[in-house]
Amino acid sequence: MNFENILVENNEGILQITIDRPSKLNALNKATIEELHVAFTEAKVNQDVKVVILTGSGEKAFVAGADISEFSDFSPEEGKALSAKGQANLFDFVANFPKPVIAAVNGFALGGGLELAMAAHFRVASDNAKMGLPEVSLGVIPGYGGTQRLPQLVGKGRAMEMIMTAGMIDANQALQYNLVNHVVSQEELLDFAENLAGKIMRNSLVAISSAIKAVNANFETGVNGFETEINEFGWCFGTEDFKEGTSAFLNKRKANFPGE
Ligand code: COA
Repeated sequence: MNFENILVENNEGILQITIDRPSKLNALNKATIEELHVAFTEAKVNQDVKVVILTGSGEKAFVAGADISEFSDFSPEEGKALSAKGQANLFDFVANFPKPVIAAVNGFALGGGLELAMAAHFRVASDNAKMGLPEVSLGVIPGYGGTQRLPQLVGKGRAMEMIMTAGMIDANQALQYNLVNHVVSQEELLDFAENLAGKIMRNSLVAISSAIKAVNANFETGVNGFETEINEFGWCFGTEDFKEGTSAFLNKRKANFPGE
């Protein structure tokens, strides 16, 4: 598929998906969400994709939120459908993606932008980044998982304050809040994220996929994460990667994982 709102580039297994509407600070309109869904769906089955890095075009924004111009006249039913569809097609899809997804937050990550960064498995930010959930300043609440993922990451009190004040925090405060793992300069950001992706790719990607499921189970209602861990742990023993990883260790050589 030809994309109009995103750029997709595979660099030796690291798929960089760049949200590319810089004149609108990369705001997520319907078409962009659909294109992201297609790109992630393709990346899921493409054996040549090992890790995904998600970032924004330009120097100003990762994503400045959902596109406000598209939903300003919505009814309650349309609002509910917008949230449900977005969560299913993009935000939950990314959170449960079987390959690592790193958000490289290169500027404003507001509303749906911060929600997208939070759906990624972890985040690195440039020192000019600004993050917040300003939805209550528009008379609405975060609808793409923000009320759930922000407290998971920063704690309930900080999440409540950020949501209620609709304010922004800078990159260093986001680091202090555990909202991002690292802060680097904007020039270094993508190299830094690629370097992390490279470290991840040296390991068993099938085991990493199991680990994603097990960690995510901790945040699912009605799911016993310890049981998920036991099942995933057992499943790993049947993989070729496990045979290779253990035999490489015992033979004092570097593992060369087949990825199956
Ligand atoms: N939805 C739609 N358009 C958006 C947008 C959004 N979430 N965020 C920015 N834009 C557009 C602006 O309307 C403007 O378009 P225009 O040039 O056609 O008028 C363009 O992007 C540039 O934004 P602008 O506001 O001029 O930049 P700024 O540097 O003065 O301010 C922000 C930057 C991020 C503070 C400001 O754009 C903003 O508050 N955006 C909305 C953030 C938000 O509430 N997000 C949550 C949505 S639920």
